[in-house]
Amino acid sequence: MIYNPIHQLISCGIKEIMIVTSTEHMGDMVNLLGSGHELKVEFTYKVQEDAKGIAHALLLAENFTHGDRICVILGDNIASHSIAPFAKELLQQKEGAKVLLRKVSDPERYGIAALDERKIVEIQEKPEKPKSNYAVVGYYMYDEKVFDIIREQEFSTRGELEITDVNNAYVKNGILTYGILEGEWTDAGTMESFRSANKIMMDCNNEIKE
Ligand code: G1P
Repeated sequence: MIYNPIHQLISCGIKEIMIVTSTEHMGDMVNLLGSGHELKVEFTYKVQEDAKGIAHALLLAENFTHGDRICVILGDNIASHSIAPFAKELLQQKEGAKVLLRKVSDPERYGIAALDERKIVEIQEKPEKPKSNYAVVGYYMYDEKVFDIIREQEFSTRGELEITDVNNAYVKNGILTYGILEGEWTDAGTMESFRSANKIMMDCNNEIKE
């Protein structure tokens, strides 16, 4: 599970990778991954002391990015195919962000995108009455303005800075594009999806297809 997101970033040509995790798990991450020398990448580690949300974790990467664009992957998202084409597309955008969508059968578990013919109109986090079956999966690409946008957000009722609020700010500005993630994908947030994640990894022999 840990290596799949890292291989995704490597498949995009990214060599500087920041890992954000809790105090509790940081030691294990460093033990496993080390400096990155073996994978020919450079790891930077940051501790998120309290579970205050994905956007809160992303804020820890501000100095790390040096004003460049950034690709964010949630550590429990597993995919069989490379997201590199989408990362390339973000670089061709003048500004803004890009999210990846995927049809799911249990939309109430995810951020769900309401779409018109061309664009995302709104993303709802874990909606009771989903407006579509398109989940926003855990691969996000942002321009350098993302950190200012995060600072404008308020904590949600579950006490988190929500990545969905950040993405909706880009929707409001008309600069959020999307792609459809093909191939196999799952998150691993339930026992059932954790099993699917293992199956995907076994079927693709831990390799990501171009
Ligand atoms: C998070 C995001 C959600 C997204 C999902 C993808 O949810 O908040 O919008 O669809 O990841 O894995 P979480 O799994 O943290 O509840």
